Amino acid sequence: MGTALVTGAGRGIGRAIARRLAADGFSVVIAELDPDTARDAAKEVGGRAVRCDVTDEAAIDAMAGSLDDLQVLVNNAGIYPFGKLADISTDEFRRVLEVNVVAPLLLSRRLLPLLAASPSGGAVVNIASLAAKAATPGTGAYSPSKAALVSLTKLCALEFADSGVRFNAVAPGGVRTEGTAGVSADAEREARFNALVPLGRRALPDDIADVVSFFASPDSRYITGQVLYVDGGLSEATIPFLQAAQRGA
Ligand SMILES: NC(=O)c1ccc[n+]([C@@H]2O[C@H](COP(=O)([O-])OP(=O)(O)OC[C@H]3O[C@@H](n4cnc5c(N)ncnc54)[C@H](O)[C@@H]3O)[C@@H](O)[C@H]2O)c1
Repeated sequence: MGTALVTGAGRGIGRAIARRLAADGFSVVIAELDPDTARDAAKEVGGRAVRCDVTDEAAIDAMAGSLDDLQVLVNNAGIYPFGKLADISTDEFRRVLEVNVVAPLLLSRRLLPLLAASPSGGAVVNIASLAAKAATPGTGAYSPSKAALVSLTKLCALEFADSGVRFNAVAPGGVRTEGTAGVSADAEREARFNALVPLGRRALPDDIADVVSFFASPDSRYITGQVLYVDGGLSEATIPFLQAAQRGA
């Protein structure tokens, strides 16, 4: 097995992905803004920590230069500051796009030669969101950023197809992580959320990591440009929601 680089893997979904890819046999590089969680995660998975702001091209360059080989890139780092479009600053809107969309392009482009040279075929997995499909009020630039990330995934799949590198996206619904701890903290609210999910619960980070493992592996060798919603059925639940509303539930 070769090397897998996971961005934002100090905690949350990224950390679960790092654990799973290490269990799959990859040497894992944790590319993270927070040096403390990065070190901790690297220790846990027997990998290497690199402090890197994924929006910083010089930092990406330095990190790329430190790699001998790369089989898998997981663009997981993402931010989701809350706020209504009418209220958020232009800078904040731009910052979300920088982290969630521009950074995956910068990393994919810079690391493409290494990925393309991987003997078993390189793979890029972008972590999108249900918000890409269902515009989510109160989350600022988040929905537009994830919709753009899905589109970027498809465009990369086509434009870089001749490199042999595959590009796919995994789109989680609600996942319990450090970043969403505040949302899950209210037990009654959480129970109401869980009742709306066809599979009856918010996802755990491992639910997402297991699907990323599939897209990182040769089992998905003939799949590129796809987005897989890992959301417990939420994205298909419009009619049950309407039926519940009509029943007054
Ligand atoms: N948690 C959910 O419910 C959920 C749902 C759908 C999609 N997602 C997506 O999954 C991904 C991970 O979400 P999470 O809940 O685990 O997040 P989180 O906030 O718990 O962790 C994100 C990690 O990314 C790192 N990070 C942030 N900006 C960075 C930057 N510029 N450079 C490098 N690292 C940076 C943070 O330091 C942090 O360790 C994100 O892309 C998010 O949009 C999450």
